[in-house]
Amino acid sequence: MVPQDLPSRPRRNRRSPTVRKAFRETILTPDNFIYPIFVHEGDENIPIGSMPGQDRLSFKNGMIKQVREARAAGVNQVVVFPKTPDNLKTACGKEAFNPNGLAQRSISLLKDTFPDLEVYTDVALDPYNTMGHDGMVRSDGVVMNDETVYYLCQQAVSQARAGADVISPSDMMDGRVGAIRQALDDEGFTNVAIMSYTAKYNSAYYGPFRDALASAPRPGSEDWKIPKDKAEYQMDPANYRECLREAALDEQEGADIMMVKPAGAYLDIIRALRDSTTLPISAYQVSGEYSMLKAAAAAGYLNERDAVLESLIAIKRAGADLTLTYYAIDAAKWIQEGN
Ligand code: PBG
Repeated sequence: MVPQDLPSRPRRNRRSPTVRKAFRETILTPDNFIYPIFVHEGDENIPIGSMPGQDRLSFKNGMIKQVREARAAGVNQVVVFPKTPDNLKTACGKEAFNPNGLAQRSISLLKDTFPDLEVYTDVALDPYNTMGHDGMVRSDGVVMNDETVYYLCQQAVSQARAGADVISPSDMMDGRVGAIRQALDDEGFTNVAIMSYTAKYNSAYYGPFRDALASAPRPGSEDWKIPKDKAEYQMDPANYRECLREAALDEQEGADIMMVKPAGAYLDIIRALRDSTTLPISAYQVSGEYSMLKAAAAAGYLNERDAVLESLIAIKRAGADLTLTYYAIDAAKWIQEGN
């Protein structure tokens, strides 16, 4: 049967490149990208095996060069993840608030070199404590909430003192956004913003990141039990309603930006937050999402450029205003080249 009298033919609005561009609803721009960088104390950049194309950048020799490249591509926001040397890891993770710690020095150097660069930080104890957990672990294996928040506030203030623009708590302790807001305000940092990891799921997709920082939960012992995963504080991937509860709390507590993490497998959560708040929403295309795309591209199974841009469009279409992505520089260049 040949269709007749079809008054509505959606294909009319897709009939040429000009028309398609005119009706495109979602447009990527590097202005919305946040580039996560790993920094270490050594003299050379060290490639991260599970994240091809990403390095642990040398604080002395690699970090500034890499950020300069990002800026040249139009990416002017970074989030800094320091790799703490093993000998500085302690049970309470106090290196997290050392005023001369690698994180603090990196933040200062970035802001001194590029005053208009927007520098985000990570607040959580996992790269700094011997257990590989975002909070302090008691000997019976309990990840302590309120005691951890006390330290997170010190970490946040030390990052603000170093010059950070946006403090990003990724730890999922209860009440930390309000406590950090108060601690920042008490120290006069009323202009320092908070991007909360509001809906951070207990995801398998963080694996490569934990390799990069050697920050995965450690095996415990008879005397000191250590939970093998983060299910006690990160959200259950099966849950949807719970993200609305977390979002309501973070907004009340003073978050400026709310994040969903991971991004690609959680587009419904991005949409849920977008529709339930007027705050900007960010989404983190995490290490595992990056590594999957890289691996498929390297095997010749996917066209890397097209697959990456599609994944970033999907995240934005779902409602993300900002996207954290290890592909920030490549994607910015691909966008500049046009289609
Ligand atoms: C630290 C933190 C993690 C990530 C960002 N901040 C790891 C974790 O929670 O275990 C993951 C980012 C990524 O996978 O790219 N709390």
